[in-house]
Amino acid sequence: MRDEEMIAPEFGPGIAADMLQWYDRNARDLPWRIPPGDTQVPDPYRVWLSEVMLQQTTVAAVKDYFHRFTARWPTVADLAAAEDGAVMGEWAGLGYYARARNLLKCARVVAQEHNGQFPDSYDGLLTLPGIGPYTAAAISAIAFDRPETVLDGNVERVMARFHNIHTPLPAAKPKLHDCATKQTPQQRPGDYAQAVMDLGATICTPKSPACGICPLREPCAARQAGTASELPKKTPKKPKPTRRGIIYLARRSDGAWLLERRPDKGLLGGMLGWPGSDWGEVAVEAPPLNADWVTLPAEVRHTFTHFHLILTVRYAQVGNETTPNQGAFATAADFRPSDLPTVMRKAFDLWHGA
Ligand code: ADE
Repeated sequence: MRDEEMIAPEFGPGIAADMLQWYDRNARDLPWRIPPGDTQVPDPYRVWLSEVMLQQTTVAAVKDYFHRFTARWPTVADLAAAEDGAVMGEWAGLGYYARARNLLKCARVVAQEHNGQFPDSYDGLLTLPGIGPYTAAAISAIAFDRPETVLDGNVERVMARFHNIHTPLPAAKPKLHDCATKQTPQQRPGDYAQAVMDLGATICTPKSPACGICPLREPCAARQAGTASELPKKTPKKPKPTRRGIIYLARRSDGAWLLERRPDKGLLGGMLGWPGSDWGEVAVEAPPLNADWVTLPAEVRHTFTHFHLILTVRYAQVGNETTPNQGAFATAADFRPSDLPTVMRKAFDLWHGA
């Protein structure tokens, strides 16, 4: 089929046919993906899980988590029946923990209110917890082959270059969305969406794009203008402030560790962590119990979306009868360092290496 038949005619020649042809030969082999040409029907649960994991996270980081989640909870009903702590622990290290809380909420809504079936339309998907416009479009395209506009960072870059758009992000988003909508074909929209994402991830990369082997090299406006590697332009971000705090690693003689589950709302919500102070311009002591605290020689440094964090780490060995003001002791058998979010895990690793 020729491009002119596949896309809005007023838009000029489209990219869909070239993209699909390229995808048929070059699709990445990803654990949640049905390869082009395969007759298997996508499992909306696996598509949804992968898309939630891939929000703000790289394919490389997601793969192992996806394998572990689908091995432990093969269906949405299994996930819906899981304990909150088990899901938060399995998510630990992937970041943006609101995603895990919403994942569980969403699984329970699908299991209880939709008979275990994901809605098969953009509007239906958008009603579910944790599913915003991008994810609703991606699931609806990939799982249900609907011609929705899927615009992630990769697709934004491909569109900005193909049309040589110099307006900086985020102001350029509506224009890029419009371009992406006009390119979306009625045939194989699910494969097309994945094709553009793969092109952005493997060829139309942020730095040193491989224009020489790009299926869009001829019509690409940025390639013609020599501007590909400058695009998309971005409005500079505000510098991140630095916050400071103190955390306390208390270990009983029997090997139990003092941990607390953080409140559901807010940063690291619902995750396990070491008790500690608030995080502010200056660190203020807030020990969870009286002990001879020893300060570790190194600090934890971690960067969140909106700030850098520096944590002083104090450690104490305490008696088996100790009662904390905060948190609860987890026995050595119950404590899995892998249940900790990265910033808390860094503190444990510092202690371990000290
Ligand atoms: N990034 C986000 N979703 C993706 C997908 N389905 N395929 C490739 N890259 C992606």
